[in-house]
Amino acid sequence: MTSRYDEVYASWARDPEAFWAEAAGEIDWIKPWTQVLDDSNSPSTQWFVGAEVNTCFNALDRHADGGRGDQAALIYDSPVTGSKLTLTFNELRDRVASFAGALARDGATKGDRAIIYIPMVPEAVISMLACARLGVIHSVVFGGFAARELAIRIDDSTPKFLIAASCGIEPTRIVSYQALYDEALDIASHQPDKVIVLQREQEIASLKAGRDISWVDFVDGASPHACVPVLATDPLYILYTSGTTGIPKGVVRDNGGHMVALKWTMENIYGLEPGEVFWAASDIGWVVGHSYIVYAPLLHGCTTILYEGKPVGTLDAGAFWRVIAEHKVAALFTAPTGFRAIKRDDPAGELIKGHDLSHFRTLFLAGERADPDTIQWAEKHLKRPVIDHWWQTEPGWSITANCVGLGTFPVIYGSPGKPQPGYDVRILGPDGAEMGPSESGAITVKMPLPPSCLPTLWNNKEGFQKSYFDAFPGYYETGDAGYIDEYGYVFVMSRTDDIINVAGHRLSTGAMEEVLSHHEDVAECAVIGVADALKGQVPLGIVVLNAGVNRSHAEIASELVHMVRSRIGPVAAFKRIIVVDALPKTRSGKILRATMRKFADGEEYKQPVTIEDPNVLTRISEAFELEAAAR
Ligand code: COA
Ligand code: AMP
Repeated sequence: MTSRYDEVYASWARDPEAFWAEAAGEIDWIKPWTQVLDDSNSPSTQWFVGAEVNTCFNALDRHADGGRGDQAALIYDSPVTGSKLTLTFNELRDRVASFAGALARDGATKGDRAIIYIPMVPEAVISMLACARLGVIHSVVFGGFAARELAIRIDDSTPKFLIAASCGIEPTRIVSYQALYDEALDIASHQPDKVIVLQREQEIASLKAGRDISWVDFVDGASPHACVPVLATDPLYILYTSGTTGIPKGVVRDNGGHMVALKWTMENIYGLEPGEVFWAASDIGWVVGHSYIVYAPLLHGCTTILYEGKPVGTLDAGAFWRVIAEHKVAALFTAPTGFRAIKRDDPAGELIKGHDLSHFRTLFLAGERADPDTIQWAEKHLKRPVIDHWWQTEPGWSITANCVGLGTFPVIYGSPGKPQPGYDVRILGPDGAEMGPSESGAITVKMPLPPSCLPTLWNNKEGFQKSYFDAFPGYYETGDAGYIDEYGYVFVMSRTDDIINVAGHRLSTGAMEEVLSHHEDVAECAVIGVADALKGQVPLGIVVLNAGVNRSHAEIASELVHMVRSRIGPVAAFKRIIVVDALPKTRSGKILRATMRKFADGEEYKQPVTIEDPNVLTRISEAFELEAAAR
């Protein structure tokens, strides 16, 4: 099939509003819009203004009532508990409607917030969709964060309900969610009216009288609730993501634009037909999980897989092939890290053999840079196209991709494809001037942003303007740097801020520095992201101790690791620390983080002319070598 990408992109560029209005025909609206795009409050872009709609209706009811009632909507596959469950569209709709009924009985109304703190079990999806059914704004918090991170999200979103599980299950341990939410509620100033606890048999939470109620008791006797009409521009959810400070940014997602964009992607980017099985091996705590475990597949009438396991270690590196074969998965979407882990454990792809992958057509990768070795390994062993696409929490769908549904264009290793309809991607230099082909600069998107992109940050209009639009007026600053080659392929090379990407997880080194600087023995510190063969990047802390501290460095390092783990969470994967006598700085006092990162990665570097004391660099280089040798 020759690619229709150029033609479709050109049709969008000719008339973006007509393009999205046509795509919106795929959604069932309660009341039509009066305006496709309202850009009068730029940079806050509003799509489908005046329309009324319900996301849960489009994800469930219209399929349940429209002939897909007995089709599997959700397949829960949990190697960590040894259990599986399939829910049809009818069954999922009924469970969602009952849970929504229980929330409404307890006073939940449109515009309230609910924090969902549940791991990869069906009740997480049921809670999200029940909130959507009522117009309650959900905010899912990932289980790998520490209590303090949960507390920050509670205080910022001021939820009426905290919907939690008693525990999560990691391959090596049970994670007590009760301990985490109890601690978070001790720290937080805001207290939800009620904590609804899903009791999992692996660890039963003790319920605090007057505050907690078990999921079973909460739902008992509740009548199913109908879908509540909301404005297309009303928020569906808030998803917090790392910013450049310790305070995360609450990305707001609307209802109408979100559905229109996601529904479009299922056919055109992922090439899926309604009724097929789609698997995003991510976590519902991340944007990929929101968009491609929950909303997009269901909006498209596909079956989605909810996998509570890892690519390796639950049971072995053949887990993905088992799931694909058993559930007849047509497309898998995951992070390159997962494939690097599989490749490490099963380099010859022996565990693929014997699995019937006949339904499987395409592998999609995103979340971090996909290294060519990993793509080629997957191509060789799966004998299927491997599509890298570039993503962010802010838009909720890919900015660049290679559209399978439109017929792919040739893959260029190292590039996550070309801009999607909706995105006018421009590379800008520091002065805002547009760069030529293959010249590097900040990757930006010319306004207005397409449907589904964040209209604002929760409670933080100023931060919204400052984070994304101040640097290049009229353009959305992605925070990534790279270039576009002469054929229109985008290359995403690095971040322009202090965000690092650890196993496909977006983390702020600034937030880690804030934690380290609270240690009583630390005078100064820097955290940089260094290359890691499995996780892409891992954080490395470089600390200078206060004068006169003569405790063992190993002891201090272990305290620092513990601090990051307990304040940010295990997901930060913060394990490496170097103690030095001074940090390299420019004469104006700026820490030379980029130079240190190059050292650590063994890359060539130029000694900055503005360096304050060149000897510091030599000593740090020696410290890196010692650390590498000790590992
Ligand atoms: N709840 C609680 N803790 C969690 C967690 C969760 N949901 N997810 C991760 N953690 C913990 C892990 O247990 C681990 O803790 P530890 O330091 O005590 O071992 C830590 O956070 C780091 O976890 P992880 O990044 O998963 O590393 P790992 O070494 O345990 O596993 C991989 C390595 C490659 C298997 C894993 O990183 C992986 O599956 N990656 C794919 C990521 C992905 O799909 N990202 C989605 C973005 S699209
Ligand atoms: P998140 O918001 O957590 O999805 O993280 C978004 C960031 O991950 C982007 O800004 C990039 O830095 C990085 N990223 C995501 N997908 C890719 C990709 N395909 N190639 C390179 N970097 C990526």
